[in-house]
Parts: sequence; structure tokens; C-alpha cells
Amino acid sequence: MAGENIRESFLRELAPVKTIVELEQLRVRYLGRKGVLTSELKRLGALPPDERRAAGALLNEAKVFIESELASCRQELKELELREKFASEAIDVTLPGKYIPPGKTHPITRVMKEATDIFTAMGFSVEEGPEVELDYYNFEALNIPKEHPARDMQDTFYVSPDIVLRTHTSPVQVRVMQRKKPPVRFIAPGKVYRCDTDVSHTPMFHQIEGFMVAEDVSFSHLKAVLESFLHRIFSPDVPVRFRPSYFPFTEPSAEVDIGCIFCKGTGCRTCKGTGWIEILGAGMVHPNVLRMVGYDERRYSGFAFGIGMERVAMLKYSIDDIRLFYENDLRFLGQF
Ligand code: DAH
Repeated sequence: MAGENIRESFLRELAPVKTIVELEQLRVRYLGRKGVLTSELKRLGALPPDERRAAGALLNEAKVFIESELASCRQELKELELREKFASEAIDVTLPGKYIPPGKTHPITRVMKEATDIFTAMGFSVEEGPEVELDYYNFEALNIPKEHPARDMQDTFYVSPDIVLRTHTSPVQVRVMQRKKPPVRFIAPGKVYRCDTDVSHTPMFHQIEGFMVAEDVSFSHLKAVLESFLHRIFSPDVPVRFRPSYFPFTEPSAEVDIGCIFCKGTGCRTCKGTGWIEILGAGMVHPNVLRMVGYDERRYSGFAFGIGMERVAMLKYSIDDIRLFYENDLRFLGQF
């Protein structure tokens, strides 16, 4: 094939080439070791010397031409492939994003944390105890022997005759005193269980126990701690009153009321017309309780209190049915 024809057939084959791979195959077909042009060049030797020069010059021109065509075509294809790659990988930053709803803290978790922060700021440490508890810690060591009428105050879930689901956080008092010498000052937040359900009771609920025993601890310390706590968790101007009451593990005992948040003390349905809402139980630790753990009840005295945290959350957030906390309705939970 003469130089002219080689160029023409090369251009014909080049026209449909669309990829770098095809282009490379074409190059091999013309310039490779067994390529069209290479074999023509090899054949030059067989020509008579006077024809060889001219034919050689033509073939060389064809070779230069093919090489430059291949190079410029390769460049074009490279750019094209790059443009296609960019187009296929393009991200439309103006598309609307996917909405991922943020999680919210459960209202009970919130009030537990808030209350814990208030007490730790006053110097109380945080203690824990088991939810499946021995009858001994839940009752006996708290001055509630078997057959004591006070056991009827709490609807206990019995696991066995000696094991209960703790009905209050008070057993943590005993566990901590067995472990530590006085002075002790702690709170024990946690879950408690009672066999009861209605608008103001769930079988599981949360309490925070407070406890302080040292030399010369008096009822006025208890009053100061609780007033300060209630003013911080509700509002600085909420009225607080202490009412005489009875608990087997404290003497004297009190129940603490706050002025009704809803009617500001004028009387409404929530406070049953009294203007007051009961919020916690408290008292001075009974000498029997101290004696049973080996604390010297003549040298040490202290106070204890227990707060139902669902009650606190209901008053803080104006919730009228305690069961709402545990139905996991997102329309309710999303409001906090
Ligand atoms: N444990 C009591 C209850 O659940 C609450 C309570 C009352 C705790 C008086 C105390 C206290 O520490 O002194 O009903």
C-alpha cells in the first residue's frame, strides 16, 4: 500500500473510534511490530534503489501524519472521558436534604438530671443500689419488721418470700451505711416498683432518696436543704410547708407540700381545693435504723427524704396523666 492509501485507510478507520482503548488498537494495527506501516517499511528493501527513496519518503510522511493524528485524537478522547466522568459524578448541592429528626431527652431523665445537679452542687454524692432487693434492706433494716402494718402502705412485688422489687430507694441508706463510716451525705436516684396503676400511679416509677448523717445534724438542716432544692427545681417563690407525718424509718417524720403551681394556692382540681400539693416524705433518721448498722445513735444524727420524680415532672410540665411518660408516644415525647 502506498503512503497516500495508507493515510486514507487510516483516516477511515479513525473516524468511528470512540475510546482510548479503540485508539490504541488502531495504533497497533498501523504502527505496531506487525502493523500496516511497519510491514510496508520492511518491504522497501525489496524495491529497486531508484524507487526506494521516493517510496521511503512517502511512507515516512505517512508515519509522521499517523503519529500526529493519533496524538491529537488521544488528547481529545482524554478530555472527553474526563468530562463524562465529572458529569456522572456531579452532586447537585441544591437538592433538598433528608430530614433526620433529632432525639430528645425523656422528661423523667431530664428532671432526674436536674435534681441530681442541684444536690451534687450542695455537696451530696450519688449512690446506687439494686432494684431486685432483699426484704431485709427494703423493710427490716428500715424498722419495718414482718407483720408491721406499714408494709400495707406499699404494694410490694414479691420475687420470693425474701426478695422483692424495691418499693422505694430507702434501702440504699442501709447499704451505704454498712459500707461507710459517718459522716455520710448522698442521694440515691433510681427506679422503684409498686403493684399499682391509675392516672397518678405506674408500676415502675422514679425516686431520689436523700440522706445525711453526721454529728449535730438537725431538722433545720433538712428544712434548709429541701427548701433550697424545691425553690431551685420549681421556682424561687414557691411556698413550702412541712406537715407532721409518719414513716417507720424516721422520727419525727414529715410530708412536704408546695403551694399549688396551677392555682397559686387558691384551690383547684389538681390540689383538690387545698392550695397545696404533697411532693415528698422526710424526717430525722430513726435511732433504730442507725443502731442496726452499728452507727452510734447517741453521737450521730441525720435526716432522710424521698421524692417521687414523676410527680415533680408532672408539676413542672403540667402533665395530668402519669402513664403518658411510659407510652412512648412520639407526639408527647417530642414536646420536651
Ligand atoms: N420511702 C418513702 C416512700 O417511698 C419516702 C420517704 C419518706 C423516704 C421519708 C425517706 C423519708 O427517706 O425519710 O414512700
